[in-house]
Amino acid sequence: MQIWSPDEVSSAVAALRAGRLVGMPTETVYGLAGNALEAQVVASIFAAKQRPTFDPLIVHAATAGAALGMAAGVPEEAGVLADRFWPGPLTLVLPRDPSLPELLSAGLDTVAFRVPQHPVARRLIEECGFPLAAPSANRFGGISPTRADHVVAELSDQPAVAGVIDAGPCAFGLESTVVGFPQPGRAVVYRLGGLTVEQLREVLDDLEVVRAFDAVDDPTLARRGEQSPGMLARHYAPRTGLILLDEGEMLPEHHRGKSTAHLGLEDLSESGCLVEAAANLFGRLRMIDEGGFDLIVARRVPDEGLGRAINDRLYRAAVEKS
Ligand code: TXA
Ligand code: MG
Repeated sequence: MQIWSPDEVSSAVAALRAGRLVGMPTETVYGLAGNALEAQVVASIFAAKQRPTFDPLIVHAATAGAALGMAAGVPEEAGVLADRFWPGPLTLVLPRDPSLPELLSAGLDTVAFRVPQHPVARRLIEECGFPLAAPSANRFGGISPTRADHVVAELSDQPAVAGVIDAGPCAFGLESTVVGFPQPGRAVVYRLGGLTVEQLREVLDDLEVVRAFDAVDDPTLARRGEQSPGMLARHYAPRTGLILLDEGEMLPEHHRGKSTAHLGLEDLSESGCLVEAAANLFGRLRMIDEGGFDLIVARRVPDEGLGRAINDRLYRAAVEKS
């Protein structure tokens, strides 16, 4: 697998035109990009990630007009959010136009769209001339890559992946916030991410948030737009067991004496800055995971701004494991 500099976007474009896959830097995390309009290419993304085909992909476009133009309709709230927050770390789930490959939607009647802000991602999509389907560039269930070498570690053994463009570490370090519109007048956050609930509420009064710890294993909920398929899978998880404690909570007796790595706000940002902590979270988890510890003892961070998304990822990493 090649490692290209941002000056070598044209090599990545050639690979994408030939139907291969490319590691794409975005402001959130690195994506594994392929031509969203070619069903076979979309299928190869699922295969390279070993992702189950019930979990749909995000289609990345260069402009809001291009993204909204691919949907079968644009709810009013979606238009407002697109205007205000695109390009940026926001994904909108919109009615599916039947001309798009079915596999993108994983059987739902909606498709997710995002207009990334990262200049390299934008150039890549523009020069390709087609939209790019891109999940995070990790094996299914693993930690999302926030640097090019993470992509190499996750996917270098996959022949469909031609290379990765190395544009340095991602600014946000958390995936995009995913918002859907299950009925007229309703906006639902399916995944907390780089755009905060507080920012969304500046423009939408009525905004529901489905939290990962409320997600229920019922496929009809995803079909009705009440939650997202991605909420169910054990996600964002390190291999090392992770226990999530509240501030001040003691480590349970049966875990004492183990070799533990600690992960709290002060480990992610010396000054306690949630933006910096978010950017460092996945890289730190990856590093700890290679340290041979028995257990990761994580502590919840303040539940505000990006802290909500950090707590969501820690919760999911801990689910079924502690
Ligand atoms: O920041 C990001 O969003 C990154 C970068 C590369 O853009 N991409 C990313 O993709 O995180 P992925 O595939 O790892 O996560 C997509 C999430 C999943 O939770 C999926 O279930 C949800 O979006 N999703 C996609 N299409 C959906 C749909 N039609 N309805 C509901 N949820 C959907
Ligand atoms: Mg992912």
